[in-house]
Amino acid sequence: MPQATYHFPRGFLWGTATAAHQVEGNNTNNQWWQWEQAGHTNGTSGLAADWWGGRWREDFDRAAETGQNAHRFSVEWSRIQPTPDRWDEEALEKYRTMLRGLRERNITAMVTLHHFSDPLWLAEKGAHSTGSGQGWENPEVVALFEKFVRKTVDALKEYVTLWCTINEPNIYALSGYANGTFPPGATDLKRAVNVIANMLRAHAVAYRTIHQIQPEARVGYALHFRPMVPKVGWSPLDRLMRNLRYDGVNMAFPSGISTGVMKSPVGNVSIPEAKGTQDYLGVNYYSVDTVSFHLGKPKELFTHSDFPTDSDFSANKFIANIPEGLYDSLKWAVRTYPDLPIIVTENGVEDAEDKMRPRYIAQHIHQLWRAVNFNWPIKGYFHWSLVDNFEWERGWTQRFGLWGLDLETQKRIRRPSVDLYAEICKENGLSSEMVQKYCPEVFEKIFPS
Ligand code: FCB
Repeated sequence: MPQATYHFPRGFLWGTATAAHQVEGNNTNNQWWQWEQAGHTNGTSGLAADWWGGRWREDFDRAAETGQNAHRFSVEWSRIQPTPDRWDEEALEKYRTMLRGLRERNITAMVTLHHFSDPLWLAEKGAHSTGSGQGWENPEVVALFEKFVRKTVDALKEYVTLWCTINEPNIYALSGYANGTFPPGATDLKRAVNVIANMLRAHAVAYRTIHQIQPEARVGYALHFRPMVPKVGWSPLDRLMRNLRYDGVNMAFPSGISTGVMKSPVGNVSIPEAKGTQDYLGVNYYSVDTVSFHLGKPKELFTHSDFPTDSDFSANKFIANIPEGLYDSLKWAVRTYPDLPIIVTENGVEDAEDKMRPRYIAQHIHQLWRAVNFNWPIKGYFHWSLVDNFEWERGWTQRFGLWGLDLETQKRIRRPSVDLYAEICKENGLSSEMVQKYCPEVFEKIFPS
């Protein structure tokens, strides 16, 4: 049996990622809370992982003790700016305390400024007055986001240089406005495209604002990248659909940033100020889609997805374990933006019983290592997530944490994956012993004899 270790470059960032609304608890002043109260989600966020109540401390301890040297979390706009004319300095101070907490534990911070949640006042803005749409549909959002970013970055700059403006603008827009699973539950592709265009404008403004305040900042966004294959490889219609969906889901932001013209399924949008506004690319990778042509159901193109039928599925079949997709995503990234640093800003699987997670982690880290070996400038990996958290419309049915969470008692449950990931972080690599110990079922795939 081969014995070897796949090593990573010195200084590689090993961490986990979280998002404010998913872990903080009691985020009563944003549009998700309202959406939950209206019964659109599987349970409500409630106390979540109680980070706002202070449990971030014990979770950061866990991260540090298990060898993580980086953490990505997001700040909650509705806490920092509870009404359009008020800044909550206490909330900002709390985030500063959390950032000091990371620094004390030698953990590099990456801060996301927008991760799916919006202040209620923003979500309602524009209603009945200008007729120009609400929330991110209203063009005023660009200037409002700029203000919020200026205030927040100015308050936190002492502790952070790695900034992520917006998490998964494609998923936010498509889920909220094309397939209706996120608030406001709309199903209109044109509205989704308008939202994503405003997000790109806001990203561009944020990019410049952050650099103005902090010239040494590294600013980017997190793209949910979805490799796709036609269901029937030889079918011209499946291939056509695959290409349409691929461009619609994956290419809007990247095309806008490359050229200043955002590609979209309903026509291109010129946003010249977006050109070149990234210092790194954040890639969120989870799985691969298969795409097919459904006669009479063109609307399903952006709302329905499928996996290869014989896949290694997660507990609720939400994710198919296809590690090569991570390699393909990174290859796409490095070809699209040669020399731009790349960070895997999210990757993980829902698995309450931790049956699949160990092999999911080992196989994805193996693919990451393959990519790193071409000297592609990949700087870090953030596993989603540190601890179970509120999984949006799917609520508590999907458990993505290395640590489990008992909602009743707030107790953390140490899953075997904690120890595997700790060994990877501490070794700065993946060894044959680790695979043998935690997921022998994929040993041959990772260390072929
Ligand atoms: C991503 C989101 C993140 C989490 C994971 C599972 O799309 O960015 O908040 O929900 O999926």
